[in-house]
Amino acid sequence: MAKDIYVGEVSHNEEIQVDHFLMRIKLPVCFAEPLPGQFVMIRIAGLQDPFLSRPVSIYSFARSRTNCTIELLYRVVGKGTQILAGLIKRSQVEICGPLGGGYTIAPSRKNIIFIAGGIGVAPLSLLAQYLCKTACHDAEAMTFYLGAKTADAVVGLDGLGKYCYRIVVCTDDGSLGEKSLVTKAFQRDIKNYPPAESAIYACGPRPMLRSLSKMLTKKYFCQVSLEERMACGVGACIGCAVAIKEEDDKTVYKRVCADGPVFDLQKVIWE
Ligand code: FES
Repeated sequence: MAKDIYVGEVSHNEEIQVDHFLMRIKLPVCFAEPLPGQFVMIRIAGLQDPFLSRPVSIYSFARSRTNCTIELLYRVVGKGTQILAGLIKRSQVEICGPLGGGYTIAPSRKNIIFIAGGIGVAPLSLLAQYLCKTACHDAEAMTFYLGAKTADAVVGLDGLGKYCYRIVVCTDDGSLGEKSLVTKAFQRDIKNYPPAESAIYACGPRPMLRSLSKMLTKKYFCQVSLEERMACGVGACIGCAVAIKEEDDKTVYKRVCADGPVFDLQKVIWE
């Protein structure tokens, strides 16, 4: 279960929206290329408190001859992320990863649909970028539904235009885009996405994913990335276990960090 830990250097750490930060980190060139959906555990180099290690999805990745660069999007929600937000250029961080498994690429679907709530945009942006470069050449449309409570919490919108044919922004108060839950906007359009021709990828808060599970029949290919609290991030503490339905309808518990964070939507037990 032990994983390699890399020391990285912060080259950029900026508040891009209220309480939402974009951090860019330079890592050794041997850092493995992440699959879309994978995450890292990050903490400040030399800090001994294990509880201040935080899981963050990888938002972008690039490799040059001399180093690798990852970008992380994160929201300040507690002590650990508050400390991250205070890091200045050239601060050192410890990165464990890439961790977990990535999204499965569904072969040749006409419609690729992404549904993100809040900071859930991060892994889906990496996936959109990946699909554009690789498997998705025959997709006629990549549509991105991006939801947040208010305009202040919409992040990652700028980069999406390069990859997605259509972007639907929704906010709870209508301060940006449609005044709607992102799942409602998707539901309105669902007739345009026949199950056999569509692949759906989602990441966001649990209530958003739960309501998606009620809208989609088992015929749909839909994978979701779960945002659970994590302590170790490498499968050792069982602190991130979620109930999953197996093929024979038996319930088993899976670790989001090691067995996920990506699961088939219909296999997750949402109650
Ligand atoms: Fe420890 Fe997942 S966080 S097992």
